[in-house]
Amino acid sequence: MVSTPSLLVAEPRPAPPVATVAPGADRLTALAPAFRAAADAYGTPQYVTDLATLDRCAAEVESAFPEPWLRQYSLKANGLPAIVRRLARRGWGGNVVSAGEWRLARRAGLPNAAISFEGIGKTDSELRMAVRAAMDGQPLRWLSVESADELQALIRQGQYLEAGWHGQPPVGVLVRLNPQVEPETNAGLAVGRPSSKFGLTAGEVRQLSLAGAFDDPGICLRGVHVHVGSQLAGVRAWTEGARAALEVWAQLREQWGDHVDTVDFGGGFPSGTAQAPSPAAFRRAFDDLIAEENLAVPPRVAIEPGRYVVAASGWILARVLHVRYRDGRQQAVIDAGMTELIRPALYGARHPVHLVSGRGVRGALLDTTVEGPVCESSDTLGVHWLPALRRGDLVAVSDSGAYASCFATRYNGRPRPAEVFIHPGGDIELARAVEQVS
Ligand SMILES: Cc1ncc(COP(=O)(O)O)c(C=O)c1O
Repeated sequence: MVSTPSLLVAEPRPAPPVATVAPGADRLTALAPAFRAAADAYGTPQYVTDLATLDRCAAEVESAFPEPWLRQYSLKANGLPAIVRRLARRGWGGNVVSAGEWRLARRAGLPNAAISFEGIGKTDSELRMAVRAAMDGQPLRWLSVESADELQALIRQGQYLEAGWHGQPPVGVLVRLNPQVEPETNAGLAVGRPSSKFGLTAGEVRQLSLAGAFDDPGICLRGVHVHVGSQLAGVRAWTEGARAALEVWAQLREQWGDHVDTVDFGGGFPSGTAQAPSPAAFRRAFDDLIAEENLAVPPRVAIEPGRYVVAASGWILARVLHVRYRDGRQQAVIDAGMTELIRPALYGARHPVHLVSGRGVRGALLDTTVEGPVCESSDTLGVHWLPALRRGDLVAVSDSGAYASCFATRYNGRPRPAEVFIHPGGDIELARAVEQVS
């Protein structure tokens, strides 16, 4: 039994650092037996995906954006092929940002016709792959170009390969629009700002278009791509981005014709806070925009969410390594840290930490700093209310399905943790084995 220093009991307690019911807490009771089994079987730290929650989140997006909306899952949020495959079975496509993610999408069974390729800086070899895929009669769903320079580089790859090829089918191209809005999110996640490195402004697109830059047999201009940012706390900037994209799309269609048929409105739906707007709220804002401004809707409309689909289903299991009491707080060092979940260090993100207890826990909750095991002061999960902990306790970090495992690093010689699925009936399945540093 851990004895709690009296100092802790005597001190006035500061306001709780998290909501009374932290996100994930309600699901924890149901998942705890599987968590314990998974930790015993595959060790910690470990990434776990609760497939029932994954299915629920995907279904929410589907009901907000039903067909004919194309749903391009952004693999950058979590590129585990088994997850991409599960979504593909539900009719989702994949949105990739590199040749590597393209390979993951293919490995998950997606055909090129269901894969869209965006990415801040594409290499010649990646552009050439897109051209080759078209030459082989298997073009990508589309490729988004970020700048005039990149468009030229794409066209050059086409010319290089052109011998005997007449651009049938061509590479379908969207222009990535920088909508110049101020997204309601963390600065590190706000990509649609005027100063950001992402995409072309409406003025730049107009100039390109008037200069005839899309007039090449190897490409076919299909429309506009916009993404304002991630973890959006409101629908305003997303809707402004949508309006800007629709305006540019209408101008391009007028100049280039009916094959300009697509607008991809990006991702950004938030996860992890009860106050955040749901996918349905984004859809309502879209419908209101169309109705109020009497806007035409393109024949092909798409979204490319990542976070919302996978975040809530993901957990990181970790064990407590040691505990000390300092400055009136319990301080627990656990065996997962910034190498497994970089978001707290990168964005100041907050992920609730829960005790998965098999033992009887008694006594007050303590103001607890949860620290990672990595040699960096920024390797911390912050302050949480937790019972008195002891070495070996199993804890679970919730809302860790997005931008977690895909960001894992080998810093400090750390292994890449195992990834485990929990099936709706409670069965556990190893999705990817731990990779030790060799
Ligand atoms: C262009 C683009 N599309 C989609 C996404 C996915 O965003 P989210 O995971 O917030 O839905 C991102 C995330 O960075 C992005 O940059």
